[in-house]
Amino acid sequence: MEKLLTAALGQDVTQLAAEEKQRLLSRLLARLAHEIRNPLSSLAIHVQLLEEDMTQAAPPLKAQAAGRFEIIRSELHRLENLMRQYLSLAAPSSVDLQTVEVAEVVRYVCELLRPEAAERGIEIAMDIPEALPPLTVDPGQLKQALINLVINAIQAVERNGRIEIIVRADPNAGTFSLQVCDNGPGVPRERKSAIFEPFFTTKPEGSGLGLWIVQQIATAHGGAVTVDDTAHGGAAFTLQLPLRGAKIHG
Ligand SMILES: Nc1ncnc2c1ncn2[C@@H]1O[C@H](COP(=O)(O)OP(=O)(O)OP(=O)(O)O)[C@@H](O)[C@H]1O
Ligand SMILES: [Mg+2]
Repeated sequence: MEKLLTAALGQDVTQLAAEEKQRLLSRLLARLAHEIRNPLSSLAIHVQLLEEDMTQAAPPLKAQAAGRFEIIRSELHRLENLMRQYLSLAAPSSVDLQTVEVAEVVRYVCELLRPEAAERGIEIAMDIPEALPPLTVDPGQLKQALINLVINAIQAVERNGRIEIIVRADPNAGTFSLQVCDNGPGVPRERKSAIFEPFFTTKPEGSGLGLWIVQQIATAHGGAVTVDDTAHGGAAFTLQLPLRGAKIHG
């Protein structure tokens, strides 16, 4: 990560504090996503114009190329979506605080990911107390953090297992916690801090940004994310946030 930042920013970052490095990386990702989006939209416009030119000048050729145009359009669309995600996710530098029904957010994420989990024989259970105090958070970011944790849990379990999402509030301490437990292989002790670093991954197709983004979201809210072992050796990720009055980073 240091090498990457030093090369990209043209400055030596080895002496900087970890938090400062993360802030720089976050900015770099957002900038990259932003700069890739501009040529993407001009490509989209020109593909459309080219299609119109062909329709007028050579209709048979246009018909023949229709399939290829479709692929180009849908791939451009996919890239645009990816970049939009990175723009909003890579740099959750400011939080849009709202009063949120946590149970609703958890149910939404469960419904979203349940089909994928079910296909692999994985059950997703929820443990949410009846009376929960309202939480003041950025709902989009909370959703994103939870999605990242549950997707990781599904990938860790692989097949035939169980994931549980446990919500707890401690009004006296003014905190709230959201825990995602799975019965996968767990996280080896020597890896417990590395997994939160950007680009750390053990998956062939992984970007290694999921947990780092969760951590950025937690920090932006004045909270934290930690990992423990469950009683059966699986992983338990806990996102702890203040019930209200998050600290906002510029
Ligand atoms: N529930 C889990 N059980 C076991 N290991 C986990 C779990 N969640 C994350 N990890 C480990 O932490 C690493 C980093 O996770 P992270 O979400 O940051 O990236 P990724 O899942 O590898 O890639 P990406 O999220 O970008 O697709 C994973 O590659 C995996 O080794
Ligand atoms: Mg992940």
